[in-house]
Amino acid sequence: MGALSVRDVCKQFGTSKVIHNVSFEVPDGSFTVFVGPSGCGKSTLLRMICGLESVTSGEVVIDGAEVNDVAAARRGLAMVFQSYALYPHMTVYQNMAFGLENIATPKAEIARRVAEAARMLRLEPYLSRKPTALSGGQRQRVAIGRAIVREPKIFLFDEPLSNLDAELRVDMRAELAALHRRLQSTMVYVTHDQVEAMTLADQIVVLRAGRVEQVGRPLDLYNAPANRFVAGFIGSPRMNFLDGEFAEARDGCAVVSLPGFGLVATDRRADGLAPGARLTLGIRPEHAAIDPVGVVKGGITLVEQLGGLSTVRIDAFDLTVQIAGQTSLRLGETAHIGLPRENLHVFDAAGLALARKDAA
Ligand SMILES: Nc1ncnc2c1ncn2[C@@H]1O[C@H](COP(=O)(O)OP(=O)(O)O)[C@@H](O)[C@H]1O
Ligand SMILES: [Mg+2]
Repeated sequence: MGALSVRDVCKQFGTSKVIHNVSFEVPDGSFTVFVGPSGCGKSTLLRMICGLESVTSGEVVIDGAEVNDVAAARRGLAMVFQSYALYPHMTVYQNMAFGLENIATPKAEIARRVAEAARMLRLEPYLSRKPTALSGGQRQRVAIGRAIVREPKIFLFDEPLSNLDAELRVDMRAELAALHRRLQSTMVYVTHDQVEAMTLADQIVVLRAGRVEQVGRPLDLYNAPANRFVAGFIGSPRMNFLDGEFAEARDGCAVVSLPGFGLVATDRRADGLAPGARLTLGIRPEHAAIDPVGVVKGGITLVEQLGGLSTVRIDAFDLTVQIAGQTSLRLGETAHIGLPRENLHVFDAAGLALARKDAA
């Protein structure tokens, strides 16, 4: 078992409050990713779960028992850090065995666990090497191996791939996903990289400035972001935002006026909107389309051709459009952009998403 609940947790360092009433559930066996910009409190939250940092108020609950006052070593968790800090004078085997020797695990049991972890992480050929004779990816696998041998209830990872180059990160991402499938242990993983979050998680917790912005499955966050921050943070290239105002309701749905261009119909509920209320349209670059009768018109300021994909940007709203395949559009030409109703998001003046009319 390895279920985790974080309930109304706050953290204050001196007079500065960095975590504000954070609550969420990590079900047993889940791969949960905390994602958010640098400094939003991801590491602090993970360290409070781990027991390396006290909570100012609220509760950390593991398998139904509150652990606020339980020492880190007794919580049954294992943490893997970005800087993997292996002991340079010890072999790979000794690095993985060390933690178990410290708690007087029988030698045969240590050997069994290290062999098992080494097999899983494809480290068997390197067990007698020192860390300096390993690549960055291999070192990071040793650090993960050190966590595996402890057979924790929950694995905690703090940006474990940030020090690796881009190609290796993609490989290690796949290895971590495979490891999770094999171990079926609960994993809580911190990253500032939304692509890592989207590809690894079965649940994402989006954090900003010490607060939870949204919790959900990756595609739910992509398809139905609760607010403008999540909309802009999840998805690459980033969602376009077009500031306008509420014009009228048609069939209960908001029609948005974009100054200088005209009216845009949406499928979002107009409940409670006053005429002239500020509304922002959101459209992802992959959903906006070059369309001769599109409502937004502008001069092309950028054309990028990647072969399989093209990106075009116009001066109106700095709108970016991603096109499948290649384009004959050129810098300086004028383009019309269509905003398909079913792919439009609408945010109110407070940044909250308006609900779809057909949503339950
Ligand atoms: N020991 C500490 N003392 C004071 N402030 C801290 C301490 N640790 C973290 N902070 C502050 O808490 C905030 C969140 O930090 P952190 O959890 O490291 O963010 P993240 O991991 O998301 O980048 C930051 O503003 C940081 O400066
Ligand atoms: Mg951090």
